[in-house]
Amino acid sequence: MSPRPVVAIVPAAGSGERLGAGRPKALVPVAGEAMVARAVDGLLGSGSVDEVVVVAPVDHLDAMRAVLPPAVRVVPGGADRIASVALGLAVVDDAEAVLVHDAARCLCPAVVTRAVVDAVRAGHGAVIPALPVADTLRRVDAAGRVVGPVDRTGLLAVQTPQGFARDLLCRAHEAAAASPTASRATDDAGLVEALGGEVVTVAGDPRAFKITTPLDLAMAEALLGAGDVSDGPPLDARTGAPS
Ligand code: C5P
Repeated sequence: MSPRPVVAIVPAAGSGERLGAGRPKALVPVAGEAMVARAVDGLLGSGSVDEVVVVAPVDHLDAMRAVLPPAVRVVPGGADRIASVALGLAVVDDAEAVLVHDAARCLCPAVVTRAVVDAVRAGHGAVIPALPVADTLRRVDAAGRVVGPVDRTGLLAVQTPQGFARDLLCRAHEAAAASPTASRATDDAGLVEALGGEVVTVAGDPRAFKITTPLDLAMAEALLGAGDVSDGPPLDARTGAPS
């Protein structure tokens, strides 16, 4: 019997309006290569991912296929990120682990992907990469007035790829589809939490930041201009130096 594959789902069906590029964000070139293609290369190049399913905007399926390796499956997305991931998950028959990775985190280094897959293989049903929060945080009211401090102790900023045992992720999405409360979660780990499942963290990496605005895009291009960002040791979240 052949080993069960590790399958990554890449939700890339958003419009990406905040980037203002006039096309789906995942198709925007980052230093000459579409964001989604960089994200997929990063996953496959990690050596820990066997197959990739890209979830694309319904009216850009061919454009998405044109920038991806032929072996990558491209399926139409849904109304929001959760719905798009569910549509990707629907074509994953069997898997040792399922990763969900935002196309917009296209510079995520291999070391993060490998750590997530290793943790799922070690028996954790839900694994997220996360970083300490660098900024000072304040809670405000609707008018923007500060109503109180936020203690950063125990707070982490969550990245992708997030990794799951396939059955747990399927159950989490089924529950979300059936319950409007659970579906308010903005990521897949949130759906597992809503189900009462345990989610563990591994070290994230500053290079796995999400490209949302033109400034993020400029930072990604600057990083690529400085050399290969996909491999090597993890970067310390506080110092930015190899750890
Ligand atoms: O908009 P934001 O960057 O938070 O979206 C996160 C990810 O979810 C993106 O990769 C985006 O393409 C994806 N998405 C999706 N289907 C939607 C909306 C967003 O796959 N309907």
